[in-house]
Amino acid sequence: MEIHIVTDAAEGAQAVADVFARTLRETAGDGTVLGLATGSSPVPAYTELIRRHREEGLSFAGARAFLLDEYVGLPAGHEQSYHRFIRENFTSHIDIEDAAVLSPDGAAADPTAEAAAYDRRIGEAGGVDLQILGIGSNGHIAFNEPGSSLASRTRVVGLTRRTIADNARFFENAEDVPVRALSQGLGTIRDARRIVLTATGEGKAEAVAQLAEGAISARWPATSLQLHPDVTVVVDEAAASRLELADYYRYARSLEQTGTVAAHS
Ligand code: F6R
Repeated sequence: MEIHIVTDAAEGAQAVADVFARTLRETAGDGTVLGLATGSSPVPAYTELIRRHREEGLSFAGARAFLLDEYVGLPAGHEQSYHRFIRENFTSHIDIEDAAVLSPDGAAADPTAEAAAYDRRIGEAGGVDLQILGIGSNGHIAFNEPGSSLASRTRVVGLTRRTIADNARFFENAEDVPVRALSQGLGTIRDARRIVLTATGEGKAEAVAQLAEGAISARWPATSLQLHPDVTVVVDEAAASRLELADYYRYARSLEQTGTVAAHS
């Protein structure tokens, strides 16, 4: 796991966008498959990718995308659906076909069957080349709440009270927040060939410390990423504030970038 501690959201957005650009370059012509997250954390990176598309010609032509999750009960057109969020914040501003941006159908009559079908569709597309993730303050990734099986696949999950409270800011009333979601599982997410996770702010500090340095356990679902060979974690100083090995990560990064040994404690 490569930990990249940045000074602010703008530097973080550059770092995440660089991982996207590298993946698009490496998979050019093969129909890149992107895994997309919603929520606040990836938005600065999406904004930077839109800028690179408009100003620097970064192209997503031929790419496909799979969202991580969707609320059960919200139809695609609902203003708080993740289907709509990703279009408004990212995909309708770049050159990816709208029909190539897939998400679980939150309004499916049989959500359990929809979850299994969605997992299959990702496999049939050849798997995800790059998955972007945020992290919940309780250590969830997608909606894999504490207690999720580390081998879980896409399924219907119940949201914790804490996640419902965290997400209430997007809804007029806390009672309007759906209590169930269709979510890619931890096993599904780890099938992605490359993963970039981004987090900012003190509220994520404990989850980030567990992610990078905690014991692998269902108690902190993001710790399952320690088993993946290609994960980059981009965090600001506040989100990094509880990392015991922060100085080492800075040192390792400067060594990798400059080839020289910088002073560190
Ligand atoms: C969103 C998702 C969630 C969020 C997480 C952090 O698709 O799967 O796991 O990434 O809840 O949310 P923000 O970024 O809003 O703090």
